Amino acid sequence: MKDLELMTEGDINFSASREKWYQVIDNEATLNYLRDDEEHFLHQSLSTPCLDVLESCEGIYITDITGKKYMDFHGNNVHQVGYRNPYILDKVKRQMDILPFSPRRYTNPVAIEFAKKLTSYFPPALRRVLFAPGGTSAVSMALKLARIVTGKHKVVSLQDSFHGASMDAIAVGGEAQFKKGLGPLLQQAINIPQPTNYRSQFPDSDDLHFAGYLEEVIKSDGHIGAFIAETIRNTDVQIPSKGYWKKIREICTKYNVLLILDEIPIAFGRTGKMFAFEHYDIEPDIVCLGKGLGAGIIPFAAIVARNEYNVAKDVSLGHFTHEKSPLGSAAALAMLEFIENNSLLQKVKDDETFLRIAFGALQEKYSLVGDIRGIGLIWGIELVSDRNTREKATAEAEQIMYECLKNGLSFKVSQGNVLQLCPPLIITREELTRAISIIEAAIVNNVKV
Ligand SMILES: Cc1ncc(COP(=O)(O)O)c(C=O)c1O
Repeated sequence: MKDLELMTEGDINFSASREKWYQVIDNEATLNYLRDDEEHFLHQSLSTPCLDVLESCEGIYITDITGKKYMDFHGNNVHQVGYRNPYILDKVKRQMDILPFSPRRYTNPVAIEFAKKLTSYFPPALRRVLFAPGGTSAVSMALKLARIVTGKHKVVSLQDSFHGASMDAIAVGGEAQFKKGLGPLLQQAINIPQPTNYRSQFPDSDDLHFAGYLEEVIKSDGHIGAFIAETIRNTDVQIPSKGYWKKIREICTKYNVLLILDEIPIAFGRTGKMFAFEHYDIEPDIVCLGKGLGAGIIPFAAIVARNEYNVAKDVSLGHFTHEKSPLGSAAALAMLEFIENNSLLQKVKDDETFLRIAFGALQEKYSLVGDIRGIGLIWGIELVSDRNTREKATAEAEQIMYECLKNGLSFKVSQGNVLQLCPPLIITREELTRAISIIEAAIVNNVKV
């Protein structure tokens, strides 16, 4: 059980329940592909060995080679506007025919148009961008820029945090799973407690208390140049208070520490606003974006930074081959247009109200459901074996996940006991209702009520 509890980021791919899952698969071709995959790819946690073999995707669905469809409530957070969204595909295909790649010393109209559009959502003081081929590279650029701007090299982040899998990103991340056996990293980040945690030692304490840790660390160190955190934590869905973020902003400003918000998995409408920081009435210094930015088609990421940080012209912050990607820019531009044209932000807010009631009902009915947390279309259902001790119900969480998979609903388990639900923003009410029934049936099958 220990392994399961260690996994903040997701469920593991070498448990007994995973072995049982393979026994459910009765298609020869699927089993052959899975074996072939296992023989050729380096094995790693959260990836190879894999769950199933996909053939296609559309809307909220991924479909395997036998034709089985899963509603995808994970999608690595790239699928805000749904898979193979025809509006996006059309724009990307047209770009493909004109200019699919732009060598680094040149620019191109679609990259410029997208830079203008993206920054138009930000406060006027944050209008500088840099693009990258993936989220971890965006985090890397943000960390470099913070060093250059502040002249200070240390970073504070949150315990259990994840900001990407490259060496620099794991140095600031707080999850042991990603650092295990990897020797000395960059100047290690100092991890302070997560502000909100249902199962922490102080589960019901005011999260403002936790903001104070940042000030203590900064004061006692002297070399802290940045604080990096997800505005709202994606994995197990932790939503700090407005007071927390206002206090953190105040502390960062007071000590010339850059506030870097990692919104790689949660930007672009997931929380009911284009960016999560808009819920908090604060201005960050650098925002990292990725995943959904490429609209589920092109790997694409970015940082948006304060205008005054345009001070590194003699350093390469992100010397990436696929920097001003015309395809990434076309996908991202179309993604923003699609959100606007279809009033998705309002739809997500309405879905939030619906889900709060639906998940609230599950919590009332089943003692296994210890906590539900969510905003917009990102929800966590935290399962406990005892509501008083808040003991994690890890075995139940895993069983429920596999049962849901069997019944056509895919999602991740975080922290060993949190069902993490991130459907595409285009999901219909009927599909949401169906997903909730699949979850409820799995709960009923796996526990005493
Ligand atoms: C919060 C957060 N930051 C950074 C990353 C890294 O993004 P990428 O996988 O595109 O490198 C992830 C990916 O899961 C993430 O969830």
